[in-house]
Amino acid sequence: MRVIKMSDLDLAGKRVLIRQDLNVPVKDGVVTSDLRIRACLPTIQHCIDAGARLMIMSHLGRPIEGKHEEQYSLQPVAEHLSSLLDKEIPLISDYLDNPPELANGDVVLLENVRFNSGEKADDEALSRQYAGLCDIYVMDAFGTAHRAQASTHGVGMFAPLACAGPLLVAELDALAQALDNPKHPVVAIVGGSKVSTKLTVLDSLSEMVDQLIPGGGIANTFIAAAGYNVGKSLVETELIPEAKRLLSVAHSAGKDIPVPIDVVCGKEFSEQAEATVKLVDEVADDDMILDIGPQTAAQFAEILHSASTIVWNGPVGVFEFDQFGEGTRSLALAIASSQAFSIAGGGDTLAAVDKYGISDQISYISTGGGAFLEFLEGKQLPAVTMLEQRSQSHDSSNA
Ligand code: 3PG
Ligand code: MG
Repeated sequence: MRVIKMSDLDLAGKRVLIRQDLNVPVKDGVVTSDLRIRACLPTIQHCIDAGARLMIMSHLGRPIEGKHEEQYSLQPVAEHLSSLLDKEIPLISDYLDNPPELANGDVVLLENVRFNSGEKADDEALSRQYAGLCDIYVMDAFGTAHRAQASTHGVGMFAPLACAGPLLVAELDALAQALDNPKHPVVAIVGGSKVSTKLTVLDSLSEMVDQLIPGGGIANTFIAAAGYNVGKSLVETELIPEAKRLLSVAHSAGKDIPVPIDVVCGKEFSEQAEATVKLVDEVADDDMILDIGPQTAAQFAEILHSASTIVWNGPVGVFEFDQFGEGTRSLALAIASSQAFSIAGGGDTLAAVDKYGISDQISYISTGGGAFLEFLEGKQLPAVTMLEQRSQSHDSSNA
């Protein structure tokens, strides 16, 4: 990978626009897990110390583009960042029309980029608007490097200079090192709620790892593929044939994709929902599967026990609600106590690592979820490709 690195540039007095991944869980206006924010601090501090005029941008959640939805505002992140840096970081909303006037060492946070029409489509006009805000664009959002969007990709094509931030560089280096020749058996747990994007990843992952454990919404699709009722659970009906195919491919390769034998159900998706443990063939039409059951958790812990490398992306249940958190908790503890080299990544996974206090017992914690899975698959991350292209054209124009 050949990219221009932020750490090699003189940032003094420059308008620096950094894309970071500050997509963290927020509840009632408060950040509930800040590992991703903390991971960004060294980059921000470096820019402040270097006398940059700093604009930070990020997305939060998946709002409807083109409108301001308060629940997706970065205001809680601005407040959290201000307290971590012990410096007031204002949140700016109208930056496209009124670019902020900054002095050296000033820092502002730009409101959720996904409020801007054209962000997700990598729109050229929006990309050029972002680019017009800065002298130097820094792509530091490893967690969003797999998205070719205006703030992660397009802007870099048009900014006067586009470079890689320290977090992005460190993540790529560390993951390349950790995943080059991993010690077998390799066990991957892929859970979470972003189902379809991940089920397709499982295809190539299942070839690379010795054992794949689906969890969360993905597991529901496998449960349905195995012929059980999933009631009102989060499931992707159109992906059931693909899940069936994966099960049979794994089976003929002598591998196994374990489908939960028991689950924890609720009648609604809420903090107050009552949790009931059921065998997987007992799920009723009005049930929602919100966690794996204790027998399944024990089975997974055993699999993890014999692993030499563990890759964890995505919780296996709705652990934000304690009564549906036992599966994720026991998995987290099994990983923590394992002798294997362990890598955990992704927004919700980091929140779980935080909640169960196991960050010191994980060998490597990545800020990337989907990005980390795509990296693992050997895919080119669009933001990295863009940085490589910009570095080449920089070299040739300086030759
Ligand atoms: C993540 O949490 O995986 C990243 O922030 C990317 O978010 P996205 O899947 O909504 O693009
Ligand atoms: Mg996430």
